[in-house]
Amino acid sequence: MSDEHGTIESHPLQGETYPPSPEFRDRANVNDPSVYLRAAEDPEAYWASEAEKLQWTKPFEEILDWSNPPFAKWFQDGELNVSANCLDRHVAAGLGDRVAIHFEGEPGDTRTITYAELTSEVKRAANMLTSLGVSAGDRVAIYMPMIPEAVIAMLAVARLGAAHSVVFGGFSAESLRARIDDARAELVITADGGYRKGRVSALKPTVDDALALHGGGSSVERVLVVKRTGNEIEMQAGRDLWWHDEIVTYDDQHQAQGFPAENPLFILYTSGTTGKPKGILHTSAGYLTQVSTTHRNVFDLKPDTDVYWCTADIGWITGHSYVVYGPLANGATQVIYEGTPETPDWGRWWSIIQKYGVTIFYTAPTAIRACMKVGRQVPEQYDLSSIRVLGSVGEPINPEAWRWYREVIGAGSAPIVDTWWQTETGAIMISALPGLTSLKPGSAQVPQPGIDVNVVDDAGNRVDRGQGGLLTIRRPWPSMVRTIWGDDQRFIDTYWAKFGDQYFAGDGARVDDDGDIWLLGRVDDVMNVSGHRLSTAEIESALVEHHAVAEAAVVGADDETTGQAVVAFVILKSQQTILTPEAAEQELKKHVAAQIGAIARPRQVFVVTELPKTRSGKIMRRLLKDAAEGKDIGDTTTLADTSVMQTISDRMRAEL
Ligand code: WTA
Repeated sequence: MSDEHGTIESHPLQGETYPPSPEFRDRANVNDPSVYLRAAEDPEAYWASEAEKLQWTKPFEEILDWSNPPFAKWFQDGELNVSANCLDRHVAAGLGDRVAIHFEGEPGDTRTITYAELTSEVKRAANMLTSLGVSAGDRVAIYMPMIPEAVIAMLAVARLGAAHSVVFGGFSAESLRARIDDARAELVITADGGYRKGRVSALKPTVDDALALHGGGSSVERVLVVKRTGNEIEMQAGRDLWWHDEIVTYDDQHQAQGFPAENPLFILYTSGTTGKPKGILHTSAGYLTQVSTTHRNVFDLKPDTDVYWCTADIGWITGHSYVVYGPLANGATQVIYEGTPETPDWGRWWSIIQKYGVTIFYTAPTAIRACMKVGRQVPEQYDLSSIRVLGSVGEPINPEAWRWYREVIGAGSAPIVDTWWQTETGAIMISALPGLTSLKPGSAQVPQPGIDVNVVDDAGNRVDRGQGGLLTIRRPWPSMVRTIWGDDQRFIDTYWAKFGDQYFAGDGARVDDDGDIWLLGRVDDVMNVSGHRLSTAEIESALVEHHAVAEAAVVGADDETTGQAVVAFVILKSQQTILTPEAAEQELKKHVAAQIGAIARPRQVFVVTELPKTRSGKIMRRLLKDAAEGKDIGDTTTLADTSVMQTISDRMRAEL
């Protein structure tokens, strides 16, 4: 699958398309193509009819208020409770005995939780949080492994009209603290640890470190700790409480109250082009509408028979929208797995699919490529015949991985939906509909009904078919980011300044002759490593914080498995104490992991004596990226010092 440069490009064959089978089409939730036209003619009416499928404590009358762009308000005079829509509503409809979660812990422990049980647990947790002082308008940070309590915590916070800020468990103390401070969270919900790769990965000590940083004195008053791994941890009197000690003292009666449609539901931090992560704010009703609609349509969910599994962690937007809110709003039965795909061996995912009879499976291309590398003989040992829909998210899926996914995991017949969206869009924006679309490997294909995606040139005009440009969204959509928490100006500058009336996604794209959209990757300084967004600027600033580093440049180089990999080039200070470049490279990798989190650890760090700069002093990242990918560096005549690139390029080639 790699060409001579080690990239993951593989090209679709001319005219290679996979129409839905007549049997699939006939039974699909969406199989009438007129839905696109109907939604395009009156998107607001379309979304209103979708929103009406939710349970409202006060029905909305106004659909969209776009009088103050880019600040959208959807269904704003209506009221609902997000948590009750995911729980109580199903129990009231007589579905209390349906399994909500098949939980599989990494060590092999399991729990089956019905909708009735999940509802009781969330009510109990809501009572507990209320007595800890949480109420509407507050923020609660959640730093948890993938265990049912993570979902319970999110739904309990939402139930009270407060907002959660989930921080991925792989982030460092520094990163956690920055997010706690920015949101001014008063409570942190965490666990002693979680299981990852056969080991205990401690979490509570990182919370302790985070809260002790900058001389202590954070906004946090309480820390609730779920016992998961039993590793020894310190409990600070007056601040820290065990979840299990507390929760038993509350009953499971709790009447959910309706909150305004635009009540904040959560903040989720994501990397931008500057060093400081952006707090993406999502609100309640519009978000819930679009995640539930897309989950039902894109995955063709049949809640009474399907077993759905999305492998994302709740620390990312995919976990929010397609583990928690979409599936639970739709009354789905789903698998939640705590650990990694290779533990105890690479058969783990496939054994879980076989065990629970998973019918819909949603994962990332990087994971598919990793499984491909291990070989098809592993999944072939398991019965995967229950699978009927496959999904992909996080980065473009290369056609070769697409074909493998379809053939080996999908028995050569399961439709693959390649879903393009972002933390900011909240829900799927571009994807095939499996009962309607003839699939093309490598293309995310078509905007969802009611979604106005365009590929435009620099002036904001639509490009012709067959051309490339920038991806934008013209009309507001229900699950759109409402602002960057505490920074309206940054929200405007980041997404709206470029085109004025169109949301600029930061992705390049091409439209083919049929009008299908092909995503081409980020056009800004955001990298995509294993489907996770990382900012070059954030890693560069972590590097220069190290006492030995004078200057740093970071690029995302194509990587066969992870899509892109972090490659750093650093100039050391002349008076530094690390003696060899090898030692510096090791130390700086560790330093970045400690500063930001293991996901940001560079694949390579190169100690260099100069960085390629233009005569005006701008670092030429493009050249560094080519060098990191072993490509010809081409024209360097705009550089102030043309010998720099030759030296770097020679070193890189020696390494590759
Ligand atoms: C990329 C993840 C191509 C894209 C849901 C986007 C994709 C960024 C796809 C958002 C896809 C996501 N095809 N590229 N199907 N899905 N991306 O915020 O560059 O973690 O801007 O949201 O991932 O990443 P985020």
